[in-house]
Amino acid sequence: MTKSNSISKRVYGRGSAPGKIILLGEHAVVYGRPAIAVPVSDVRAHATVQPGRHGTGIVIHALDIGRHYLLDAVPPTDPIACVIREVLAHCGLPSHLDIDITITSDIPIASGMGSGAAVATAVVRALATALACPLDDAMVSEIVYKSETLLHGTPSGIDNTVVAYERPIWFVRGRPPAPFSVGGTFHLLIADTGVPSPTRTTVGDVRMAWERDTERYEALFDAIGELVQAARSALQQGDALHLGTLMQRNHTLLREMGVSAEANDRLVEAALEAGAYGAKLSGGGRGGNVIALVAEEQRAPVAHALEAAGAVRLLSTTLTPEDAP
Ligand code: MEV
Repeated sequence: MTKSNSISKRVYGRGSAPGKIILLGEHAVVYGRPAIAVPVSDVRAHATVQPGRHGTGIVIHALDIGRHYLLDAVPPTDPIACVIREVLAHCGLPSHLDIDITITSDIPIASGMGSGAAVATAVVRALATALACPLDDAMVSEIVYKSETLLHGTPSGIDNTVVAYERPIWFVRGRPPAPFSVGGTFHLLIADTGVPSPTRTTVGDVRMAWERDTERYEALFDAIGELVQAARSALQQGDALHLGTLMQRNHTLLREMGVSAEANDRLVEAALEAGAYGAKLSGGGRGGNVIALVAEEQRAPVAHALEAAGAVRLLSTTLTPEDAP
């Protein structure tokens, strides 16, 4: 029996992956400083692989955007086509399988929540399951990173890492990711400014600014790196008050870097005035999401204040000691 014959009988798989937020360290992480990111499991991307119905090859159904297309009809720069080809190559399989891959996601797009990485991860997991070709988290992350470079230009790799491992992550570019232990409970609100913010644009703008004024940007990145180090201790000690202060300082440095926007600053101010320990933009910036760290009893008033200040969507996530590896 040939490999493709045996596959066609077995093909069927599901995969899913969470959204993510960066707690501290975005942008500086692209330049080798550490960052801390956590999964947001309330919002997820899903993929299903089923035997193809029409014998036309690999067909991708991206239901949320109403797009149905043949793998062979899109250029290699398509991020989903990229991960599919990578999985097939890794598993030593031909690309002329007859399968349907269906994708859905409720992760907000272009808001710093890793929607592209999550969709790609869901597809990789579903396909690997369907092909009975197990992939560990590190391999999933490595494959998804390739699609991230197509989407975002020069990504650090933090998004694919936290989404693939689905655990809080201490991340330094080029080093193995360290799943992260927290020593207390931390409540986070995630407020969408409603302003779409493609990561590629802000990452590219920061690169141009860094090229123009390397010394200043390196100093900003160093300062952020120090905050991230301190934030790890605060997380380990369960010290929400201190973590909030560090987040606040990180937001100020991101503003200095030019990646905040009026919509981000407005939500940050509203959260602080309503009693949050700290708040900052999260992800690429210039729109996208703001995160606020709150005591449990402040959750409702801060959420209300964020909505009143214009947040178009609110999500929440809680870090607990159980998230430790
Ligand atoms: C995007 O979620 C985070 C950035 O630091 C870009 C990256 O790390 O690739 C802005």
